Amino acid sequence: MKNFYITTPIYYVNDSPHIGHAYTSLCCDYIARFKKLDGFNVRFLTGTDEHGQKVENAANAKQIKPKDFVDEVSKNFLKLTDFLNLSNSDFIRTTQQRHLNSCEYLWKKLYSEGHIYLDKYSGWYSVRDEAYFQESELIDGKAPTGADVEWVEEPSYFFNLSKWKDKLLKFYQDNNNFILPLSRRNEVLNFVRGGLKDLSVSRTSFNWGVKVPNDPNHIMYVWLDALTNYITYSGYGSNEKEFKNNWPADLHIVGKDILRFHAVYWPAFLMAADLPLPKRVFAHGWWTNEGEKISKSLGNVIDPFKLIEQYGLDQVRYFLLREVPFGNDGDFSKSHLVQRINSELANNLGNLVQRVVSFCLKNTMGKVPDHKNKFNKEDLEIINSFETEISSLRNLIDQQKLDESLKEIWIKISKSNKYIDEQAPWNLKNDNAERMNIVLYCLLESIRQIGILIQPIMPNSANRILDIFGLDSNQRNFNKLGTKLVVGIDLIKQDVIFPRIENK
Ligand code: MSP
Repeated sequence: MKNFYITTPIYYVNDSPHIGHAYTSLCCDYIARFKKLDGFNVRFLTGTDEHGQKVENAANAKQIKPKDFVDEVSKNFLKLTDFLNLSNSDFIRTTQQRHLNSCEYLWKKLYSEGHIYLDKYSGWYSVRDEAYFQESELIDGKAPTGADVEWVEEPSYFFNLSKWKDKLLKFYQDNNNFILPLSRRNEVLNFVRGGLKDLSVSRTSFNWGVKVPNDPNHIMYVWLDALTNYITYSGYGSNEKEFKNNWPADLHIVGKDILRFHAVYWPAFLMAADLPLPKRVFAHGWWTNEGEKISKSLGNVIDPFKLIEQYGLDQVRYFLLREVPFGNDGDFSKSHLVQRINSELANNLGNLVQRVVSFCLKNTMGKVPDHKNKFNKEDLEIINSFETEISSLRNLIDQQKLDESLKEIWIKISKSNKYIDEQAPWNLKNDNAERMNIVLYCLLESIRQIGILIQPIMPNSANRILDIFGLDSNQRNFNKLGTKLVVGIDLIKQDVIFPRIENK
């Protein structure tokens, strides 16, 4: 089996989970589930980023010890993982011993090879971004993200980032699709071409973090610590054999705001440590809420728990994946959500299933009817196009064109809806029962294939569709798309799969 390793960013625990976290995680889950159904041995990692000044400040503000604070808040992210029905293989926390060990291991390697040296930092730092900024980058005295910056002067270890400029540029050139989408790739290239300064990788003005080996007054820069999570999980510094098998990652999915850390610093750290580089970093865009930037001060933060309670998990999963071309910014609008649920889920998909199954319950004794191998051209198009469909889906998923892959499946659904209207089995009932059975067989078969294909998007609803045919779990993988429904099996009725939402 081929391996596939995908990661979400690990989330800061200074805050409650919001739609941005849910979005990144869901996109990864879609890809992870797709790959698993397609026969890959999938590793899917998510977790929490628990160190640094931002988290220490948040704990202080609550007058709680940082460790107690992170233990508490991390639970909310773990709960979200469950709530979103993520198929992650592990949930890493940067306060875990396994992670502290791998951070130390990496540091020692970088230090012993001469890539880290002691000096003094003086410059701007944004706690919210946990990032250093040069004077020239500031806009009206703030970080480009709008976050406040503070002047920092302290002894600091530096990573010799400037030395990696040419190697990074060569790597980007040799690996054209390392950074996607391409527009973002250009931003990164321009940044690196503009010259890299050595990066401060330790701080002395607070305590909450991984101590620098042999110099415990220094706390490792939280991004060096956080990025290392991806190799901690793979067994870096603890299990060489496992690490060889589990690293590099195939795909880091991140938001556009943290691309630089993943596409510049991370590859440079890895090159310096003589480690293989991840195969791809994909940066997605940001959501606004009904046209407005999402922020706590505006009070328009979207709570994923509430959203899912109100509209249903699979409905929200579908909407977030479908609404925005993956990589672009997008706007969250309740009316769009309701519209998509009613038209694409309830009407197009739900009705198709309901109509066909109810009709069979009345007219084929609730069984998969016999086709007698008398398929015409239209029938074969409905039941035999899965090969082109799955190969086109694979292509789209491998390019992270997530929304397009959903569109592709809905084209298949539309074709079945068109077929049912054109073939009109209800008109065949009285004088051509044989033809009616063939048409119904094709529709049921198409529904089975659709059920298989939508599993990674809406796992629960897909399962309910596949339960109609009483299929075992090993009958639900993509390599079973071609094994047609057995004539004569009983259909098991399901309640409405996607109830319509009535607008108040
Ligand atoms: N802890 C770092 C990541 C370290 S990875 C080694 C971090 N955490 S975060 O909690 O602040 O953000 C996590 C993700 O949420 C980022 O990918 C970010 O882009 C995403 N989002 C935060 N707000 C968002 C929106 N409004 N819309 C979409 N995603 C956004 O950064």
